[in-house]
This record gives sequence, C-alpha cells and structure tokens, in this order.
Amino acid sequence: MAPIMPLAIVIHVMFFAFAIGIPCPHSSQWKLRGSGFCNNTYPWYNCLYDENRMQYTEFCRNHPKFQRPGYKFIIRGNLDGKQCEDTYYQPIKFWTNGSSNCIFKKSTCNEEGQVAFNNGNGTSNRKCRCDYTAGYAFVTKPNAKCFCDPEQEDCACYLTTCKPFHLLTPGQVS
Ligand SMILES: *[C@@H]1O[C@H](CO)[C@@H](O)[C@H](O)[C@H]1NC(C)=O
Ligand SMILES: *[C@@H]1O[C@H](CO)[C@@H](O)[C@H](O)[C@H]1NC(C)=O
Ligand SMILES: *[C@@H]1O[C@H](CO)[C@@H](O)[C@H](O)[C@H]1NC(C)=O
Repeated sequence: MAPIMPLAIVIHVMFFAFAIGIPCPHSSQWKLRGSGFCNNTYPWYNCLYDENRMQYTEFCRNHPKFQRPGYKFIIRGNLDGKQCEDTYYQPIKFWTNGSSNCIFKKSTCNEEGQVAFNNGNGTSNRKCRCDYTAGYAFVTKPNAKCFCDPEQEDCACYLTTCKPFHLLTPGQVS
C-alpha cells in the first residue's frame, strides 16, 4: 500500500527508492524475503519507513513487536509509533513482522449521490450517507438512521423522483 505523504517527500522517496530499488516487498513475500535476508538469531524480517533517511529500510529482529490499534511503526532513530494517515485505518494491532503501513484504506463515499457522514478515525472506517439535499436516498435502509457503514452494508444511493421543492429529510429511504 502506498503511504500518503506530502508531495515533496513522495518525490524524494520515489527518486531515492528508484536509486536503491526498494519499496517494501508485499506482505505475502516477507517470509520468503526473510529466509534469505535474516538469520536464526534475528529471524523476523521487518520493513518500515525511516523518517530521517526518507526511505524504506529492511532489517531483522529477534522478536516481532506490535503497536496499539490506530497506530503503526516507523523508524525515527529507533522504532517509533505513529498514527495512521487520514486515508488508512488499523482496527487491530500492528505487527512489525507483517506490514509497513496501516492495513485498511478507508472507503471514499464517492459513488453517485454519496457524501461522507464522517471521516472515521485511526481505528474505524469512514461512514457514508446519501446527499438528500440533492434528492438522493439509500437503496437499502442502513442499520443506523442517518448513515451507512461501507464495511458492513450496501451504501448505494439513488436519485428519488421528488416533486420540485419537496426535500427529503436526513436518512429518509424512499
Ligand atoms: C544475524 O543478523 C544480524 C543482523 O541482522 C547480525 O548482526 C548478526 O551478526 C547475524 N548473526 C549471525 C550468526 O550471522
Ligand atoms: C507476527 O507475529 C505475531 C506474534 O508472534 C503472530 O501472531 C503473527 O501471526 C505474525 N504475523 C505474520 C504476518 O507473520
Ligand atoms: C473511532 O471511531 C469509533 C467508531 O465511531 C469509536 O468507537 C472509537 O471510540 C473512535 N476512537 C477514537 C480514538 O476516537
């Protein structure tokens, strides 16, 4: 998953990463990569973003380490916790032996008629609603009255055929 960073840093990293040829390998490759790169004393393969050197760094540790939900690890001198970027969330523990970034990308709530109800946070996904001011309503009634959880439910909206000036109220279904 691509990390979200200010543009200047992204450009720098891409340039640098080209030069040394490593963004982190995909998580599914870590075991294999570790078996060649690590040894019996430090068997756990890790790949994390180093904020000071502005590049991803591979290293081996003698045990995996975890962070609380909503956070990931980066290298800032040492291993350091950092909140997930706004566009990602991490509802479970972050393990250094499994990933470089918070694992889930948030839903965008940008299908036809959708708008964001809230932006979620480090541990939970964004919630969507239908833009009732533009005449959209949920196709399927969500569990909550005014918003829909894109992880659990179908958040599709449709354009109702309202009479002019008949405004839908928040959460109205049809
Ligand atoms: C194992 O790897 C670590 C660094 O990843 C290195 O410091 C250490 O010397 C290695 N040990 C052996 C026995 O090769
Ligand atoms: C990382 O290590 C933890 C603790 O040993 C383990 O529960 C988890 O499954 C490991 N994750 C991966 C991707 O190997
Ligand atoms: C994140 O959002 C979830 C769901 O709305 C909520 O239960 C949780 O308390 C929030 N966490 C923080 C740190 O605000």
